[in-house]
Amino acid sequence: MNIRAARVEDLAGMQACNLHNLPENYTMKYYLYHAMTWPSLSYVAEDHKGRIVGYILAKMEEPEEPLDGSPPAEPLHGHVTSISVLRSYRRLGVAKKLMVQSQEAMANVYNAAFVSLHVRKSNRAALSLYRDTLAFTVKSIEEKYYADGEDAYAMQLSFKQ
Ligand code: ACO
Repeated sequence: MNIRAARVEDLAGMQACNLHNLPENYTMKYYLYHAMTWPSLSYVAEDHKGRIVGYILAKMEEPEEPLDGSPPAEPLHGHVTSISVLRSYRRLGVAKKLMVQSQEAMANVYNAAFVSLHVRKSNRAALSLYRDTLAFTVKSIEEKYYADGEDAYAMQLSFKQ
């Protein structure tokens, strides 16, 4: 298994993997927006034949500066738009590696204060990855966040000691 930064030619494979694994899907334009704007934040896992078996799609959130000169309500931070791994490659540590690579780039390249994400309340595997393995905490519950009405946990991990 090879984990490396995503390139434009990987985007179709990432989109296929996403369609296979999750009901939250995105246009090719949105993948391209991530890859072109924050090229060091999105990663792929490829098998020995170069097929995409997992990905992380991530971005920076740049809070708007208030017009009165006061500091923005939230500091600059990273956000995981989507992560998934094909079923036969799960529980091998792939998602953890994808998360850590992206988090390191958020902190080191963009000086992000923290990383945020949303996850379905019912998504046991992802919740365990974020909370137990990576030490994210739940910041709030966003009611009916998903199109089918399910609530989301809004989670964060601080990069500051
Ligand atoms: N049950 C319980 N804990 C789990 C599970 C599971 N099924 N899967 C992972 N974990 C936890 C464990 O603590 C695991 O460590 P361990 O194997 O040493 O016990 C740890 O997470 C790391 O697991 P990885 O092997 O790195 O995770 P994997 O590569 O299997 O991918 C993922 C996890 C991405 C959640 C995968 O199950 C998946 O693709 N699911 C469908 C898509 C999905 O739900 N994506 C997240 C949506 S939220 C978002 O995108 C921001």
